Amino acid sequence: MNKHIKHHSITVAVVLGVLAVGAGAFVYSGLYNIGADDHHTKPVFAVLQTLRNRSIHVRSEDLKVPNLNDPPLILKGAGQYAAMCTGCHLAPGMKTSEIRPGLYPQPPNLSQTRVDPKDAFWVIKHGIKMSAMPAWGFSHDDPTIWSMVAFLQKLPDMTPAQYKDIVAKAPPDDDMDGGDGGHSHDHGGGMPQEAGQGHANTGSHERANAAPVAGTRLNMDGLKPHAVPQAEAVSNQLHQALQQGDRNAVLALLAPDATISEANVVQTREAYAAAHLGEDIAFLKHARVTTVSQGSVQQGNTAVVGSESEIRTTIKGKPVSLRSRELLNLKKIGNTWKIVAIHWQSSPLTEKAS
Ligand code: HEC
Repeated sequence: MNKHIKHHSITVAVVLGVLAVGAGAFVYSGLYNIGADDHHTKPVFAVLQTLRNRSIHVRSEDLKVPNLNDPPLILKGAGQYAAMCTGCHLAPGMKTSEIRPGLYPQPPNLSQTRVDPKDAFWVIKHGIKMSAMPAWGFSHDDPTIWSMVAFLQKLPDMTPAQYKDIVAKAPPDDDMDGGDGGHSHDHGGGMPQEAGQGHANTGSHERANAAPVAGTRLNMDGLKPHAVPQAEAVSNQLHQALQQGDRNAVLALLAPDATISEANVVQTREAYAAAHLGEDIAFLKHARVTTVSQGSVQQGNTAVVGSESEIRTTIKGKPVSLRSRELLNLKKIGNTWKIVAIHWQSSPLTEKAS
């Protein structure tokens, strides 16, 4: 090695050393804002985007794509998507969801963007680090992931009605079925009118509990009766207004940006007012509703109220009994509690309904 080069390598080593110490100091100083509400600068975002795209592409390019036009595969994917993905990636007719505004990077609206099948498979299976995108490969086998990919190819062309229709026909998502009877997208969700139609086919699912988002069952743990009487009063007013068919009273209880989740379909207040509200009212008109339990919990200016009711009615002349679960998220605005989110699930009432 000649002297010149040696001299250079020493300089390079010193510079690198200084940079490393500097980087260490920067990391430790806490100067970097890791908050998801503090967005990357354009150049940093561009670098991360390229890193992400290349990383995915290099790993997905040799994948063998099955026939994505296979109708049963697409149908299966519809059920999966409705059960696990709409909260972040939306669906036809959905404008936003409770979780989306706070996510950074923003999940793409997959009801409007078509993704490359190989890339999509890889991302769904492995997730994306430091983003909200989970690795679904831990809980789903490859054929199931391909079903989601197949469905995603069709989704951007679907109208809200077509979407609803395919989801209603889709087989339940029971990959996680470790005896829990389905965190599925079952049609058991929602308020009664959903249940009414959907329950023709819930025979196979003893405990048809629909999940509001990402496969969780409505969790009533930690709620205590009368803990937040004012918030519980709002829940009672909601039930009363629904039963009396008083649309305006129902809508008055909802915050402007409230979301309503029925059968895993998350709706905005406007979407609900335009469609399902009328159906819920029509259904409840002839139903007998008994509240079985109610509880609440407060945290600062937010509260959660959970309740369970039994609904008895007749559908096409046949008596039907349902167990309905409801979870309300409320927020204190001024002196009144407003509902910011409603989650409804219902299942046919059997002796062992839990
Ligand atoms: C908790 C929120 C969340 C859930 C739930 C979620 N995703 Fe994602 N997903 C994201 C985010 C955030 C990104 C973008 C990450 C990035 O670009 O760095 C993403 C990216 C993707 C992409 C890549 C899109 C593209 O343009 O390359 C696909 C495909 C995808 N998700 C599919 C799904 C499917 C299918 C499901 C349900 C099984 C799902 N996601 C559930 C948050 C979520």
